[in-house]
Amino acid sequence: MKMDKRDMAFVALIAVVLGVVISLTGKEKTKTVPQDENHHIVYQAAYAGAPDANASFVRRMFFKPDKKGAETYCEPCHKARNVRFPPNHPPKNRCLFCHKLQPQQP
Ligand code: HEC
Ligand code: HEC
Repeated sequence: MKMDKRDMAFVALIAVVLGVVISLTGKEKTKTVPQDENHHIVYQAAYAGAPDANASFVRRMFFKPDKKGAETYCEPCHKARNVRFPPNHPPKNRCLFCHKLQPQQP
């Protein structure tokens, strides 16, 4: 098979696209917020306004957890309990953008 410049450019383009896709999916590996006693308060705050099981399907579909409300608890407690951040931790305003809440059973 003969490869001219345009073929090479095409192959290079595919390599770049693949690289971007792989690096983006890698970002989802950030640890989720554990569902334990420590983090109970976070889940409680996030899901305080959650519609109950009898609410209409549409209301339950459009419910979004109160992430900003929940995030106010993260740092003070981690500081108080000396939970270490990894040394290369990214900027940490908005914890829940990166550390996802685990899905809740209604
Ligand atoms: C009341 C205290 C408290 C609050 C509030 C809290 N944490 Fe934590 N968190 C801890 C403690 C203690 C640990 C270390 C022990 C553990 O892994 O449970 C921890 C560990 C973690 C870990 C590491 C888990 C692992 O698998 O190693 C993550 C991620 C985390 N917290 C995220 C958050 C986020 C995001 C919030 C806010 C939305 C939050 N935490 C709020 C106490 C708290
Ligand atoms: C821009 C994304 C981002 C934000 C915002 C962020 N983190 Fe992280 N966090 C990471 C990454 C990436 C790691 C390292 C990979 C991992 O172990 O999850 C990490 C690691 C951690 C760990 C250590 C987990 C372990 O390995 O035990 C804790 C605890 C933690 N973050 C808490 C927080 C808290 C609390 C906030 C908000 C104040 C926060 N993070 C905001 C991306 C983020």
